Amino acid sequence: MTKLSSYLAGRVAVVTGGANGIGLAAAKQFKALGAKVLIGDVQEDALAAAGQENGFDTQRCDVSQESDLKQLAETAKGLGPIGVVMANAGVALGGKVEHVPLSEWQRVLDINVVGVVRTFQPFLADFMEQQNGHIVVTGSSAGLRSDPTGMNCPNATSKSALIGMTRGLHNYLEPHGVSVHLLAPRMTDTAFPRKALGWGRKGSRVAGDYDIGEADTPDQVAEALVTGMEADDYLISLMPETKDVLRQFADTLRP
Ligand SMILES: NC(=O)c1ccc[n+]([C@@H]2O[C@H](COP(=O)([O-])OP(=O)(O)OC[C@H]3O[C@@H](n4cnc5c(N)ncnc54)[C@H](O)[C@@H]3O)[C@@H](O)[C@H]2O)c1
Repeated sequence: MTKLSSYLAGRVAVVTGGANGIGLAAAKQFKALGAKVLIGDVQEDALAAAGQENGFDTQRCDVSQESDLKQLAETAKGLGPIGVVMANAGVALGGKVEHVPLSEWQRVLDINVVGVVRTFQPFLADFMEQQNGHIVVTGSSAGLRSDPTGMNCPNATSKSALIGMTRGLHNYLEPHGVSVHLLAPRMTDTAFPRKALGWGRKGSRVAGDYDIGEADTPDQVAEALVTGMEADDYLISLMPETKDVLRQFADTLRP
């Protein structure tokens, strides 16, 4: 039994955006390590299927709605002591930056940044009081890398914000025994990059025109996540360059 599995046994892992992709793969890992798993998502059919196939509790939840997240936290607390909260739900918005309307920028930032806060905040006081807990935030290598295509600007902006957010949280919560992990995947084979990159020049969607090439699988990302959590790593990435840059960035700015 590993340190993480003995911690998770009988505890609850909550994952937003857990019906598909990286969130679903992470939820499976938490379950395999002995946690009770609650996934939330906006896609009701996928949510029900993932719950049934894997023995997860499920709840429809839109991370842009504070009341949904409060309800998700209530449900989770009813299942047992909370071990992990993974703020993973995110949206990709494609389109050349000169064509993306401000309302869409606001939507991406609301889901990808404020949605993360809505997710972890209802658990924070309990984590600090119990002096343990893991907060996982799904960022992205896109938060650091340059995007010469002009197609990924809102997503990259949101993921850069998560670096600052989690760095501060990590420093603040470490003395309280609470671990914060920033998961920064590179290109991963899910619906997400297709949505981000499958748009035409004038902002119109061109379905399926993007070859995601040498992408990681969601399972590979989830395995890296639990390995990193086991090691109590703040920065978790399959991409060594991302990890190095993030580490330098974090160390340079250490107060
Ligand atoms: N796939 C990649 O290449 C890649 C790379 C880096 C980071 N990421 C990040 O990984 C996370 C998961 O994405 P994925 O690749 O697994 O894609 P995905 O599309 O397979 O999964 C995202 C899930 O989030 C859900 N979701 C979207 N909006 C939501 C909302 N408002 N409330 C609740 N759920 C919502 C979707 O329904 C979906 O089930 C995202 O935060 C994304 O930014 C993905």
